[in-house]
Amino acid sequence: MQSPDRNRQGIDHDPFWYKSGVIYEVHVRAFYDSNADGTGDFRGLTEKLDYIKDLGATAIWLLPFYPSPLKDDGYDIADYCAVHPSYGTLADFKKFLREAHRRGLRVITELVLNHTSDQHPWFQRSRRAKPGSHWRNFYVWSKTAAEYHDARIIFKDVEQSNWAWDHVANAYYWHRFFSHQPDLNFESPAVHEAMFKVVDFWLDLGVDGLRLDAVPYLYEREGTNCENLPETHAFLKRLRQHVDENYGDRMLLGEANQWPEDAVAYFGQGRGDECHMAFHFPLMPRLFMAVRMEDRQPIVDILEQTPPIPETSQWALFLRNHDELTLEMVTDEERDYMYRMYAHVEQARLNLGIRRRLAPLMNNDRKSIELLNALLFSLPGTPVLYYGDEIGLGENIFLGDRNGVRTPMQWSSDKNAGFSRANPQSLYLPIILDPGYHYEANNVEVQLANPHSLLWWMRRLLALRKRWRALGEGKCEFLQTGNRKILSYILRYETETLLVVANLSRFPQPVELDLSAFQHAAPIELFGRTEFPVISDGPYFLSLGPHSFYWFSLEPKFARGQVQPSANGQATLPTLALAHDWHEILAEKNKFGMKEILPDYLRAQTWFKGKSRSVKFLTIKEDIPVNLAGGADARLAFLQVDYVDGDSEMYSLPLAFACGAEADGLRQHSPERIIAELNLASPAQSGILYDAFSSPDFCAALLEMLWRPRRVKASQGEIEAVRLPELRRIIGESSPPKPSKARNEQSNSSVIFEDKLMLKLFRRLEPGLNPELEVGRFLNSHSFPHCQTVVGGLEYVGNADSRFTLAVVHAFIPSATTAWISHSTPSAVTTTASSHGSPRGNRPRCRFPNRSNFSSRTFRPRSLRPSARILNRRGFWEFALPNCTGFWRPTLSTSLSPRNPPHRTIGARCFNPCAIWPCKACDCCGSK
Ligand code: GLC
Repeated sequence: MQSPDRNRQGIDHDPFWYKSGVIYEVHVRAFYDSNADGTGDFRGLTEKLDYIKDLGATAIWLLPFYPSPLKDDGYDIADYCAVHPSYGTLADFKKFLREAHRRGLRVITELVLNHTSDQHPWFQRSRRAKPGSHWRNFYVWSKTAAEYHDARIIFKDVEQSNWAWDHVANAYYWHRFFSHQPDLNFESPAVHEAMFKVVDFWLDLGVDGLRLDAVPYLYEREGTNCENLPETHAFLKRLRQHVDENYGDRMLLGEANQWPEDAVAYFGQGRGDECHMAFHFPLMPRLFMAVRMEDRQPIVDILEQTPPIPETSQWALFLRNHDELTLEMVTDEERDYMYRMYAHVEQARLNLGIRRRLAPLMNNDRKSIELLNALLFSLPGTPVLYYGDEIGLGENIFLGDRNGVRTPMQWSSDKNAGFSRANPQSLYLPIILDPGYHYEANNVEVQLANPHSLLWWMRRLLALRKRWRALGEGKCEFLQTGNRKILSYILRYETETLLVVANLSRFPQPVELDLSAFQHAAPIELFGRTEFPVISDGPYFLSLGPHSFYWFSLEPKFARGQVQPSANGQATLPTLALAHDWHEILAEKNKFGMKEILPDYLRAQTWFKGKSRSVKFLTIKEDIPVNLAGGADARLAFLQVDYVDGDSEMYSLPLAFACGAEADGLRQHSPERIIAELNLASPAQSGILYDAFSSPDFCAALLEMLWRPRRVKASQGEIEAVRLPELRRIIGESSPPKPSKARNEQSNSSVIFEDKLMLKLFRRLEPGLNPELEVGRFLNSHSFPHCQTVVGGLEYVGNADSRFTLAVVHAFIPSATTAWISHSTPSAVTTTASSHGSPRGNRPRCRFPNRSNFSSRTFRPRSLRPSARILNRRGFWEFALPNCTGFWRPTLSTSLSPRNPPHRTIGARCFNPCAIWPCKACDCCGSK
């Protein structure tokens, strides 16, 4: 019954994916309308998947999208195994699922076990069936409505009883929610069977998780409140076993609005044999309470009352969702307080709760919104973000039921907030026009254009959350401080130790923390990577602005930017522990380890330009499989390096694994290529991770991509070969030349193939076509003889149409010399001469022996100009030098030096130098 994995390509099979992610809750109808009928649909949602991915979410939780009369926004289901026609078709859903998975996003759907719509064919059959029959027993019927009077009424604003009269059946039926939502009868084995079929239907399609709606109410027993009954738990254990046995890495998320000790029971016992996740309902209102009371106690109390959960389980934490801010799990006094503080307008109240969104609840105060998110994203659990809260979407409490928090997503200032092209009157719900939250000012487009917007801030928050596993997965320990307005806790996860300090007050606050257990550590603030004073054995003093917070990493002083020395003083290689196979380094859960070790590796590379800059984050953006001869494989990763200051950069890093004798060889001869030791479960298979460009097989595989052009697919895009006719002309149709071992490592890495071709792998990747490829192509087409012929290249084309040149391949010319001439300082010419193939570190360098002679005779820019003309729009110069018989490749760069004005530099690279170059007079290339 294992699902056909066609719809699951793109996601790994990490069984604990739900522990480290961020869940984005969205309703199909509210996100984006692709067919201008006023209602969002699957095609629209699919179009917006990149937005969710870019935000940093790792899973999408979809509210019910099944056929339904929509009297409870789809929680009244009329057919469990189809799609509501307003949202599209099952084929649209499958496409959406595939596209989400392709982006590494998992999908959680709703499993409404407890009840159906009264329009469901099961209920229609039941009400007509004979008492005691198979169909009659699908639902809970009574002649008297006298049973189960201890069960509370949940929707108390609209329902007076949990029983409703059915004139067709001539009997009462049981319902815990709306009277149009009859409860299924879990005493009937046929109901179990029907529900298991529904589960199989969606999991077979490839869905990753199921939210078990209203799960505490499955059974009824006289004399109880009909919640959390042992029979309910027994059913859940069977369901979990079924999912584990047949599907493995899927997840069950329980909606049990209960006190902590009852909610914990939904994880099951031991290793957790019921739900993998459950919402922490009692924490949610207390986060709001603590901020308004300016007191940490409500949060600390409820978390201290929360029993530990099994190792494999995880809380789902949330601030707001599609329902009212429920106040069922608070005391009467606390509820009164919450109503006074957050719902003084009558329309804001619904049942036992408050129907409002996050931003308006915080009076649109940016600091309070950030503070609540900082707690949501750091307390133990996986955060669930409600769509729109990342842009501070407003609410409309006058819309009835919970519709005021379910209005369309606001994409732009266009008609209908860019949500739909339909007549505004036909929208499923109106757009927010409240002046404080008006869609014209508050929308995704406006916020994306402003790096200081809430949306950008949330993106940074989600990026940090992904980078630090202690956020959400760390063991939490509250710190006692004299100032109750300050909430502070330590989070520990493996080697990470984080400190969170939050000011719940609207005024600045001082705090003294006892951090003596972390003496000598330096707190590094996570957003800016700013180092704070080192911790001593005395109290650690901090002051915090109104509603501000700090996330610190407590790092031993020596660990930053250095490889930790071993006991014998030798530098040791970082080590990563993996389960079975080296490819796991790029699995989401291990990416963190990679991000830890890579900055040090990068700093040691000639081609890494950011050596003197402070790295803030490192993100593995792409991971392209490269098949090597003999069946082995390597990966070509793209690393995005974000710095504390200035623009980020993207680098290419080929990765491969070696063990046994091959690893020993690399340890001995190329230790600088080794990135990390990899410890696998079986020591015999442990080995090293190294830069694959040092492997001839890898270089051969790159050339092969050009030789026999084909598309190499990756998770976010693909590699395209650019094969120019010159390749055939120069090399002919024979098999590709073999790579020599010698490499040249400067700002990029190059390898020579049998003195015929030279392939240069660009290390720093910049968007667009690389000038070397573009200019080379142009010069080829103009039969320009004085330069190295470009025969092709490799380009990466991303899904979002981003394009980078990865490599360029030239015809090889045996030696080369470079000269740089500056417009502004023509006399300050130095030259670096290099001979391809010379061993690294032994590269000959020379200065012109007679600089004045050189500059006056041949290279004075003035003497260049008359023969120079602009080659293309980018401003490349073509020039011929008097007396020069060499091959010249012109280059141009602009340098923003402290000197004013910024000056442009013409670089001229001459191949075949000794025919003209004054280096005849020196021994730089051995050709005196
Ligand atoms: C859950 C849903 C809610 C719905 C109720 C009844 O609590 O979150 O929106 O009304 O179940 O189906």
